[in-house]
Amino acid sequence: MFKKSVLKVAVSAGVLALGGGVASAGNVEVLHWWTSGGEAAALNVLKDDLASKGVEWQDMPVAGGGGEAAMTALRARVTAGNAPTAVQMLGFDIRDWAAEGALANLDDVATSEGWDGVVPDALKAFSKYDGHWVAAPVNVHSTNWVWINKKALDAAGGKAPTNWDELIAVLDAMKANGITPLAHGGQAWQDATIFDAVVLSMGNDFYKASMIDLDEGALGGDKMVEVFNRMAKLRSYVDDNFSGRDWNLASAMVINGEAGMQMMGDWAKGEFLRADQVPGKDFVCIRFPGTQGSVTFNSDQFAMFKVSDPEAQQAQKLMASAVMSPVFQSAFNVVKGSVPARTDVPNDAFDDCGKKGMADLAEANANGSLFGSMAHGHAVPASIKNAMYDVVTAHFNGEYDATEAAAELVTAVADAK
Ligand code: BGC
Repeated sequence: MFKKSVLKVAVSAGVLALGGGVASAGNVEVLHWWTSGGEAAALNVLKDDLASKGVEWQDMPVAGGGGEAAMTALRARVTAGNAPTAVQMLGFDIRDWAAEGALANLDDVATSEGWDGVVPDALKAFSKYDGHWVAAPVNVHSTNWVWINKKALDAAGGKAPTNWDELIAVLDAMKANGITPLAHGGQAWQDATIFDAVVLSMGNDFYKASMIDLDEGALGGDKMVEVFNRMAKLRSYVDDNFSGRDWNLASAMVINGEAGMQMMGDWAKGEFLRADQVPGKDFVCIRFPGTQGSVTFNSDQFAMFKVSDPEAQQAQKLMASAVMSPVFQSAFNVVKGSVPARTDVPNDAFDDCGKKGMADLAEANANGSLFGSMAHGHAVPASIKNAMYDVVTAHFNGEYDATEAAAELVTAVADAK
C-alpha cells in the first residue's frame, strides 16, 4: 500500500522500479468502448504507459461506437455494487454520475499538476463538478469532419467541396463513377453524428439555439425542416446494406475505395492510419461543407469511481496523472485521431489533419464557434440526446418526412425534459 509521499514520487517519476523491474502500483479496471483497430492501437499506448508505471490493467471493453452500450453496462455494474475503477465517459454522463455522488475527487493530483491552467474551460465544464475535479480529459474529438478517398475525389473532379451544392456535385460524380458515394452505418449515433454537422452547417446561432438551448422555434422551424431535407438527400447516397453497419466498417469502405467518403468524427482517422494511409496522399480530411471555422467537439475523459481500497485509490491517481501528461497526450492522440485536451502540447508529432484539428479548435474556441456535440453527449443530457436520436433515425429510415420530423423533434425534446 502506498503512503502519500511515495505516491508523489511515483507520480512525478512515472516509474517505481524495484530490483530492476517495475513494482506493482495497483490495478485499474477500465470500462471503455475502444474496440476498433484504430481505437485499440490508441488504447495500447495507454496500457503500455500505465504498465511502465506499474499499474496493472484489467480490461472491460463494451463494443458500440458512441458509448451507449458501455453506459448501459456501467449502470448495471454500479447497480450491482461493483463499479469499475475507471470509465471512459463523455460530457453530460460525467455530470450525471458526479451529481449522484459516485465519482472520486481528483483535486490533489489536479492541483499539484496545475490542470486548471492548461485545460480549456469548454472541457472543464465536464471534468469538474461543483468546483472539484472528477475526470481527467484525455483528448478532444470533433464530429464535423468528412473523410474522402483521394482517388475517388480526383475521379470526381479533384476539388474538395466547400458548401452544400459542391458536396452534392461531388457525391453525384462519385455515384456516376460507380462507387457508393457515402459510406455510412445505420446506427442511431452515426445518423446523429451526420445530423450534428448538417445542423451546424445551417449556422452557429442555429446550432446553439436548437441543440444547446433547445429553443422550440429552432427545433421545429423552417431551418430544421431544411436540415431534415438534407439528411434525406444524404441518405440517397448510402448503399443498401448500411443498416446496423459499424462505423469502422464504413471507414474501411472509404479506405479500400468501395466508397467515396464518410461523415464521421476524427476517430475515423485512426482507422486510415491503421491501414497505413497518409493524409493528403491516400485520403483527404475536410470540415463538413459549410462548417469551416466552427467545431462540434466531444472529449473522452476518464472518470474514477469512488472505491474504498487505498491501493486502488492510488492507482486511480496514477492513472489520472498518466493520462494528463503532455508527452502521453501527444503520443496517444497522434494514434487516436483526436487532439490533446491540454493547450500546452506541441503539434510537431501530428499529421496534417491533426495539425488542422488543433488549429481549428483553438480558432473556434477564440471565436465563440466551439459547441458541444449533441450526438456525442456534450450538448444535452442523455435523456434528451436519446429523444433526438429516435427522431433523427426514424426520419433517416423514412418513417417521417422532413416537416413531420421537425414537429416530432419539438415533441420528443419537450417530453424528455
Ligand atoms: C468517442 C471516441 C470513439 C467513438 C467511436 C466517440 O463517442 O469519443 O473516442 O472512438 O465514439 O466509438
